Amino acid sequence: MNAREKILQLQSVSPLVLPSLLLCDFGDLRSEVELLGKAGIQALHLDVMDGLFVPNMTYGMPIVEGLARHTELPLDVHLMIQEPSRYLEQFGAAGANLITVHVEACSDLSATLKQIRDLGIASGVALNPDTELDAILPCLELCDLVLCMSVNAGFGGQKFNPVAIEKVKQLVEIRERRQLHFVLEVDGGINVETIGACYAAGATWFVAGSSIFKQECYQQAVTDLTAAAIA
Ligand code: DX5
Ligand code: ZN
Repeated sequence: MNAREKILQLQSVSPLVLPSLLLCDFGDLRSEVELLGKAGIQALHLDVMDGLFVPNMTYGMPIVEGLARHTELPLDVHLMIQEPSRYLEQFGAAGANLITVHVEACSDLSATLKQIRDLGIASGVALNPDTELDAILPCLELCDLVLCMSVNAGFGGQKFNPVAIEKVKQLVEIRERRQLHFVLEVDGGINVETIGACYAAGATWFVAGSSIFKQECYQQAVTDLTAAAIA
């Protein structure tokens, strides 16, 4: 099984809660990952920021590689970096199972998505709240996942923007009409108040930062989010 197949085993899991490794304790990543595993998490969402595409910096390949050595959980790598095609091979070698790039950051989105798949990695495209769906429509055949951002990429702890719900609804229709199979993921401000409407609209994967890491018990947080999605 290659990297892509490993994460696409989760394609039909719904709802799937993915913790965003942005607000976690980076001084003790090993324990954080262990706790998340015990909380029933099935994949990790890694937020990579370059200080250029977004006004914030996080981490790059070495952290992805370190995490891949310590966990069997598939890695959903969200690249918030300008011209990500420059680094895809290195993120693949580091252990990414899925790489999501931002449409706003790519000079040639189709070529970038093809490059990800050619590396045996699942391909995702993300769009910020202000970006129109039209920007990604020609490339949907090349996507294993579409990430509708419900905050502007860059920081955890922001307020949910419902524009993502409208995009999810439209993408469900388009996916049906064009007989495609991409996963619909939402990221930003996901909590027990906001997850239900996203799930009802047709999203199935949910990235959660504050609503897991700011809680005392990760397991309870994941249980609460899952229950709130389907309520
Ligand atoms: C934002 C990141 C998100 C974010 C989620 O740029 O892509 O993954 O950290 O954090 P919360 O859930 O706190 O909005
Ligand atoms: Zn993210």
